Amino acid sequence: MSAGIHATSVIATKRDGAPLTTEQIEWVIDAYTRGDVVPEQMSALLMAIVLRGMERREIDDWTRAMIASGTRMNFSGLRRGGEVLATVDKHSTGGVGDKITLPLAPVVASFGVAVPQLSGRGLGHTGGTLDKLESIPGWRADLSTRQIRDQLERVGAVICAAGADLAPADRKLYALRDVTGTVESVPLIASSIMSKKIAEGTDALVLDVKVGSGAFLPDEALARQLAETMVSLGVDAGVRTTALLTDMDNPLGRTAGNALEVAESLEVLAGGGPADVVELTLALAREMLDAAGLPDADPATALADGSAMDRWRAMIVAQGGDPDVPLPRAAHTDEVAAPESGFVHRIDARAVGDAAWLLGAGRSRPGEPVQAEAGVVLHAKPGDRVCAGSPLYTLCTQTPERFDAARAALEGATVIAPDPPPDTRPIVLDRVRFE
Ligand code: URA
Repeated sequence: MSAGIHATSVIATKRDGAPLTTEQIEWVIDAYTRGDVVPEQMSALLMAIVLRGMERREIDDWTRAMIASGTRMNFSGLRRGGEVLATVDKHSTGGVGDKITLPLAPVVASFGVAVPQLSGRGLGHTGGTLDKLESIPGWRADLSTRQIRDQLERVGAVICAAGADLAPADRKLYALRDVTGTVESVPLIASSIMSKKIAEGTDALVLDVKVGSGAFLPDEALARQLAETMVSLGVDAGVRTTALLTDMDNPLGRTAGNALEVAESLEVLAGGGPADVVELTLALAREMLDAAGLPDADPATALADGSAMDRWRAMIVAQGGDPDVPLPRAAHTDEVAAPESGFVHRIDARAVGDAAWLLGAGRSRPGEPVQAEAGVVLHAKPGDRVCAGSPLYTLCTQTPERFDAARAALEGATVIAPDPPPDTRPIVLDRVRFE
């Protein structure tokens, strides 16, 4: 306890709708990280924050307190051939089939920009970037700070696990929020993401804020509020920050699942791949290159001339992976057929994410193993014509007893109608930047 502050008075302040003071926030984050505030108390405070919200000053204080709970990284002074390298990171609020980091990091690195992507593992229906890459035989996620710096100077891109000392308060809080129904809050999501990104020490940051059924905040107005809050937190902390609001009503690309998404990313790096994945990769790459001072660079050239694929191979090899070994494939597959003929109007991203998770691609508790081979392949996208009985999805798993649950999750997920859909929603809905 410090200067009359204790857990119950902090909880009561927020319960009654008053703003928390800077001292209360610093105290409660520090005390929770050390174990002096117990999870029951922190759960009550989090629920009060979900219901009552936070002012901008409180979000700022909460973010700073979480950064101060660990050590800050520093990527300044990275050099290649005598030139100082700019660092730019991308963060997505998470979605179904969102494999964009995989092709994006090597595309941007191929222009001489350093891309430190400190990533996480998946929980629930959204996949984790590290889980996807771990389906490549030999690839390892855990690197020391020295190895990260070294790889950024030699290769330009690193996708690896965030160290335990990067905003440890957020790590502990996020695990608690996940089991207490307190994830869905603009102040809590914004401070969680931005504490890690600011502590990571990147020069610039591009945020991909998802909107729609597969996103944490399906509602566009709330997603916009989240984007604006995160951009202003970044700018105030001296990080050049831009956000794109992007569609997550339909899954991205044609695959959801770890090895399946790596294979699709390789198609993009080879100059092919689904149009929506290519479009979003290029839109985010343009923002990152602009933030790194290269507004005229055309990222499409890196996909067309193989330079992004070269970076990908170097990045995988540097982390112990073999880019030439075939990816694991599921021992069991099953198909879901179209119940009627017509045009696909919508595919519920959340249902596809849940099906992939039920097939074994995701985990329900931190630390659980995931199946590299499990997931869903989509045979039709919105706008496509399908015939009754033709395949809509292929389900993939190592454990066929999971098929029934995955089929049930996909029940009603595909909206089919006799006429073509009106114009499909664009992938990039808006851009948030404070000049
Ligand atoms: N991702 C995070 O890192 N934190 C959140 O609160 C939600 C998504």
